[in-house]
Amino acid sequence: MRHKILKLLKDRSPSYLSGEEMAQLLNVSRTSIWKNIHSLQSDGYRIKGSPRLGYRLAGIPDLLFPAEIAGELQTKIIASSPEIIHHYRQIDSTNSALKTLAEKGAPEGTIVIAEEQTGGRGRMGRSWSSPFSKGIWLSILLKPPLAPQDTPLFTLLAAAAVVKGILVNLPDLPVGIKWPNDLLINNRKVCGILTELKAEADLLHYLVIGIGLNVNSKEEDFPAELRNTATSLYLENNKEEVSRQKLASSILQEMDNSYLDYLNNGPGMVISAWKKYNITLGKDVTIKTVQGSFSGKAADLDSDGALIVEEEKGIKKRFQAGEVTLENFTGGQDPF
Ligand code: BTN
Repeated sequence: MRHKILKLLKDRSPSYLSGEEMAQLLNVSRTSIWKNIHSLQSDGYRIKGSPRLGYRLAGIPDLLFPAEIAGELQTKIIASSPEIIHHYRQIDSTNSALKTLAEKGAPEGTIVIAEEQTGGRGRMGRSWSSPFSKGIWLSILLKPPLAPQDTPLFTLLAAAAVVKGILVNLPDLPVGIKWPNDLLINNRKVCGILTELKAEADLLHYLVIGIGLNVNSKEEDFPAELRNTATSLYLENNKEEVSRQKLASSILQEMDNSYLDYLNNGPGMVISAWKKYNITLGKDVTIKTVQGSFSGKAADLDSDGALIVEEEKGIKKRFQAGEVTLENFTGGQDPF
């Protein structure tokens, strides 16, 4: 009902629409209209009421409500209807919440998006700072008919799709991917991706792809220990705020496009899109793995998403996981 009322108000904006007309159009009581208008107002929608004219939409908050982000979407699987978009003002972790939904049988394409995470999780057991309304804290449920070994490709797919989504909104931003899926701007991390899965030996039940993108964070919004290594789109965009609603829509649209392409045509586009936006290949890197640290030139990306590193004597090693440090990158060491 809220969606429908909002749609009527948007269609009529900037003019007024009477409560009576809305009630007739939606075939509900005027009390129900009034209650929903109040609930929208308490969510931050500026709806002006006039005793003679009715209601007028005067402002929309930049919060990631399903009605706002789904409005412009033309997705086939991901967030393809408002019912599979779960929005929270505050939650511990969108990845954890989505895993719970997945266990209860949520359909593929379900997303959880939050204004704030109190227990946001990063890779390697780290925490992920996720203050209220400053970023996009988003998780996407996928159930590709593939083997668990194919999972790394989805992380690359997500990284490239987020870059595309950012560039739709901010075409001049020099955003690049550090293998496998950190997004950096000017050598600072702006986005991280945490992919979690449930699988048996060769059967993938589901994937939860968690995306954390710092959008409108100011310096003081980052914990002190991250201020020299993290950044946000706001900070890299001449301190101009960016619409989180538009960004979230673009990212979801790009994710859906890339996922469908993967399902229909295989991994070719994933690899080429990742290569297009990567800032890793050709660089001297150190890669930290559970087996130890290795240094060499990042030579190529294998067809399964593994990084091929060429050591000094021309010996090539393949890495499927690890933490990459880019050496001599823009005058300093990449801190991640
Ligand atoms: C990284 O360490 O680089 C990955 C960070 C991933 C953070 C996102 S925010 C949305 C989702 N929910 C979480 O708890 N983590 C991911």
